[in-house]
Amino acid sequence: MLFRKKDHLVGLDIGSSFIKVAELKTSKKGTILKKFGVAQVPFGAIVEGRVIDKEGVANTIRTLFKSQKIKEKNVAISTGGHSVVIKTINTAKVPDKELHGTIHSEAEQYIPYDIDEVNIDYQILGESEFSSDQMNVLLVAVKKDLVAEYIDLITLAGLIPQIIDVDTFALQNIYEVLPESDPEEVTLLVDVGASKTSLNILKGNASLMMRDNVSGTNQIIEELSSELDISIEEAEKMFQDGDDSKTIREIRRSVANTWCSEICEVIYTFQSNSNENKVEKIVLSGGGGFLEGFSDSLKTELDVDIVAINPFEGLILGKRFPASFISGVGLQAPIALGLALRRVDDK
Ligand SMILES: Nc1ncnc2c1ncn2[C@@H]1O[C@H](COP(=O)(O)OP(=O)(O)OP(=O)(O)O)[C@@H](O)[C@H]1O
Ligand SMILES: [Mg+2]
Repeated sequence: MLFRKKDHLVGLDIGSSFIKVAELKTSKKGTILKKFGVAQVPFGAIVEGRVIDKEGVANTIRTLFKSQKIKEKNVAISTGGHSVVIKTINTAKVPDKELHGTIHSEAEQYIPYDIDEVNIDYQILGESEFSSDQMNVLLVAVKKDLVAEYIDLITLAGLIPQIIDVDTFALQNIYEVLPESDPEEVTLLVDVGASKTSLNILKGNASLMMRDNVSGTNQIIEELSSELDISIEEAEKMFQDGDDSKTIREIRRSVANTWCSEICEVIYTFQSNSNENKVEKIVLSGGGGFLEGFSDSLKTELDVDIVAINPFEGLILGKRFPASFISGVGLQAPIALGLALRRVDDK
């Protein structure tokens, strides 16, 4: 073929503390990791998923693309947090041409925003387990002003937003193709970021329960700042420099226990409502997954396999990506990689 359709996208995960970028290339030998990099977001520039300092974040993205020598301008990004609502709803089976209208009118009662303020997407999951006249539909609503904000940001950075995904789906997207994923195993994917945690219980490609909450490493930084009466910036630096004083050790332990209780609560709720029974494996991701004591407290509470995600597994890595680099960024990388797997014509 003379002209190969160029359909690959750069995956760009705009976290509230770190931006991650990934570019993959498909070859006869397999998928090659071409580019991967992270850059810290200016402090306070993104709060609760909203872009407060557009110019500052756009600048960080531009610098990251430049330092990684990424030429491709078409990107896939994702959003999460309060402005994104994901729900499984139960609705009557209707002919295809009526579906759009039915779902929009049903959606109103499940979304805490005015229906005109959100973009709605949905996917039919299958027949309801309670009645053959009903079906389960995965409903996703994203606030229009949030979408506009991210399109503006990406354009300002000199890039073209081709796909706007949801963080949780991008994580699920990469996990499903990892050699370690077992379609028969009920698995909980947990992503603990700086300002939010997303939980997704999966079996194969089907999501059985999703939850988002506001836990994250910012809790440690805020507690440290108030305990030692120092600024948030100083507390963040202490945390990132790996300070190991008694105060920070105690805060880390108490935050790890809080995260652990929240996760246990979700698992117990799921297990008591589902005949699909037991969560068999927990896969940790997000920078919060590095928190000392977190994985141990989960192990103490739950009789479940707990592993840290290795999203690079199965990819062909060049010399530019030594094992030490890969293990240092592995937990933070999956969403950007999941986005890099998207294609221009994906829905
Ligand atoms: N190797 C590491 N060791 C210890 N802590 C780390 C490591 N990497 C990242 N972190 C911490 O984990 C935090 C969360 O990282 P992550 O990249 O998942 O957050 P984010 O995606 O920016 O946040 P959010 O998804 O909530 O917007 C970072 O702020 C950082 O302090
Ligand atoms: Mg994140």
